[in-house]
Order: sequence, then C-alpha cells, then structure tokens
Amino acid sequence: MELTFSIIKPDAVASGHTGAILELLEKEGFRIRGLRMLRLAKAQAEAFYEVHKERPFYASLVTFMTEGPVVAMVLEREDAVKKLREVMGATNPANAAEGTVRKRFAESIERNAIHGSDAPETAADEIPFFFTAADLL
Ligand code: RTP
Ligand code: MG
Repeated sequence: MELTFSIIKPDAVASGHTGAILELLEKEGFRIRGLRMLRLAKAQAEAFYEVHKERPFYASLVTFMTEGPVVAMVLEREDAVKKLREVMGATNPANAAEGTVRKRFAESIERNAIHGSDAPETAADEIPFFFTAADLL
C-alpha cells in the first residue's frame, strides 16, 4: 500500500464538487486516511508550489489557491501516486480523458479542480505540510 497527497482546489470546493470528487476517489479504491478543509495562507501556497516559482503562472496560481477553502487529504491505495494521477486527468482539462476528475470538474488549465503528488518522494514531502503522523487514521 502507498500513500499520496491530494488537494481539492478552491474552484471545485466553491462550485460544490467536494462530495462528488471524494465519492469518485473512494470508488477508485482510495482509502481516505486524513482529511482537512482549510484556507491556504499566501505563504503556504507559495511554499507548496515553490517548485514552480520561476514559471510565468506562479503568481496567478498562488492567488487562485488562496481565493477560498480547499480540502487537503491523504489517500491510500496500491500504486496510489500513479493511480491518482490517472484519475485526476491531464493538467489541461481540454486534454483530460473521459471520466477523470479534471474532465468532469475543471474549468481551465489553472482552475483544474484537484492536485495530486507527482511521485512517492513528493507525496512524502507534501503530506507533512498539512498532516502529522497522528492525524492519519
Ligand atoms: P498539480 O501539481 O496541481 O497536481 O498539477 P499538475 O502536476 O497536473 O500540473 P503542474 O505542472 O504541476 O502545475 C501546477 C498547477 O499550476 C497551474 N498551472 N497553470 N496557466 C498555466 O499554464 C498553468 N499551468 C499550470 C495548474 O493549477 C496546475 O495544476
Ligand atoms: Mg504538479
């Protein structure tokens, strides 16, 4: 079993898709080990997406990620990191496969409904941003 980290982004929370996304993830075999709703502070969003600091969309991404509440979660499944990326769909919803979270719920390449760790090492870095070991049930 493997852990991964995911965020339901502000666009999907605001448009009332939290429940549908959680249902889709559970149907795909993910077990929710930790779950929190929070609003990211600017410094938190900047640190979380620091890898994209030099990209032209960084400032806009930080503004978007702080505009309203998000739902952060730790998910467990066999091959969780890879499987979550499949279930999320492509970054740009125009390229996302049918039935994926982004195909169903994303508004644009930026306002794309969900984040998922891109490697097991990334998940190990991202989980402690929001959860302690004792939070994982
Ligand atoms: P994420 O990190 O959120 O799971 O998304 P990802 O791996 O599919 O995409 P990544 O390249 O890591 O980009 C992180 C987030 O930045 C926003 N973005 N905007 N305007 C743009 O061209 C652009 N490109 C990326 C998206 O919110 C993307 O998910
Ligand atoms: Mg990414």
